[in-house]
Amino acid sequence: MQLLSDFDLTRNEIEEILALSEKIKATPAKYADVMKNKTLIMLFELASLRTRISFEAGMNMMGGHAIFYSIEEGNFTRSETLEDGIKNLNKYVNCIMARLLKQEDIERIGSAATIPVINGMTEVYHPCQNLADLLTIKEYKGDLEGLKVAYVGDGGCNTANSTMIGCSSMGMDVTVICPDYPKYSPAPEILLKIKAHNGSEVAVSHDPVQGVANADVIYTDVWVSAGMEEEKKQRMEAFPPYQVDSALVSKAKPDCIVMHCLPAHRGYEITEGVMDSVQSVVFDQAGNRMHAQNGLLYWLMK
Ligand code: CP
Repeated sequence: MQLLSDFDLTRNEIEEILALSEKIKATPAKYADVMKNKTLIMLFELASLRTRISFEAGMNMMGGHAIFYSIEEGNFTRSETLEDGIKNLNKYVNCIMARLLKQEDIERIGSAATIPVINGMTEVYHPCQNLADLLTIKEYKGDLEGLKVAYVGDGGCNTANSTMIGCSSMGMDVTVICPDYPKYSPAPEILLKIKAHNGSEVAVSHDPVQGVANADVIYTDVWVSAGMEEEKKQRMEAFPPYQVDSALVSKAKPDCIVMHCLPAHRGYEITEGVMDSVQSVVFDQAGNRMHAQNGLLYWLMK
């Protein structure tokens, strides 16, 4: 079983992973050796705080071991093909997690691997983030079915894609609120794949106030994702009307929670006031990266 994109998981499978995550989070001592003698390799082509530390701490918590490998610093892919490198890793470790620049490379890893592979983020998907987000929403709101998530900002980025796919799979209503420009809007092929995957239609709005009406969750992310630095000037001009500030949050339901996958750029996509408000759950959300991934690792390897 591999998690190369959010499309790899059905609603039932997400429910199984979340149930395990909740159990491990509630009773960690019971799961303290479920990863005994198991090793996770973590391949990184891009920097990380949360993904790296939460996977490593999670493996450690469950009695296993994690190895960090920087693709840039190591000779992986420099002196041999990606596929040949993976055929070596198949012999040493029990699971591969990779954060890569290109989705096509995680798919190449998936094809060469005989062990579980987890996408730790590519330019197209961020499925581990979505599992943590679902766990967090469940903790704050109970049932996920029928809740409205308003994703405000770059509707074409990896976090938006994973939010659209994962949340719609769980029966949530997703509205993406973004500038009226194809690059910043959900890709038509992703919307079609979502319809085929779980039958859902994701709504797209370019009006922030209208888009967040009745929202149970407002979600935002950085305006300039990793690898998009050369577009910074254009993006800084397009996104300011989509800043999540207290005026916008007041247009959603009074008990709406505010989420951000972090790192946040305070004063840009989210104001200081909203980031530190009682409605912000961003640090519990970050904490749940580890708990959701623990459930995922156990589900993949048990
Ligand atoms: N949200 C997230 O993936 O954080 P890192 O980039 O720090 O891993």
